[in-house]
Amino acid sequence: MSLIGNFDDIPDNSTSSIMVDQRSLLLVKRTGDLFIYDNRCPHTGESLDPMGGSVASADGLLIQCQRHAAEFVSTTGECVAGPCQGEQLEVVTYTLSRGDIYLD
Ligand code: FES
Repeated sequence: MSLIGNFDDIPDNSTSSIMVDQRSLLLVKRTGDLFIYDNRCPHTGESLDPMGGSVASADGLLIQCQRHAAEFVSTTGECVAGPCQGEQLEVVTYTLSRGDIYLD
C-alpha cells in the first residue's frame, strides 16, 4: 500500500490531483468524506484539471472537467452532464489509518 497523504490536509468541498507511480489521481473531499478517482476524464482520457486548482463546485457536490465542462457527482464519479454523460470516473480504493491515506 502506498501512503499518499493525510486526510486533514485536504480541504473540504474541493479536489486536488497528485501523481503516484506515474498515475494521476483526483482526490475529492465532500463534507468530510474522501473519494479518489483516476484523474482521467471518460470523454478524452485526459486529466480533468489541466489548468490546476480545484474542480469541485462550491458545495462540493459536483466535479467539472476543465476541458469541455463535463460534470460528475463527486461522491460516485458518475457523469451527469456534458459529452460523456452516463459514463464514470474510475474509482480508486484506499484505506484510512489514523488519518493517513493508503492506496489499496
Ligand atoms: S475531456 Fe473532460 S469533458 Fe472533454
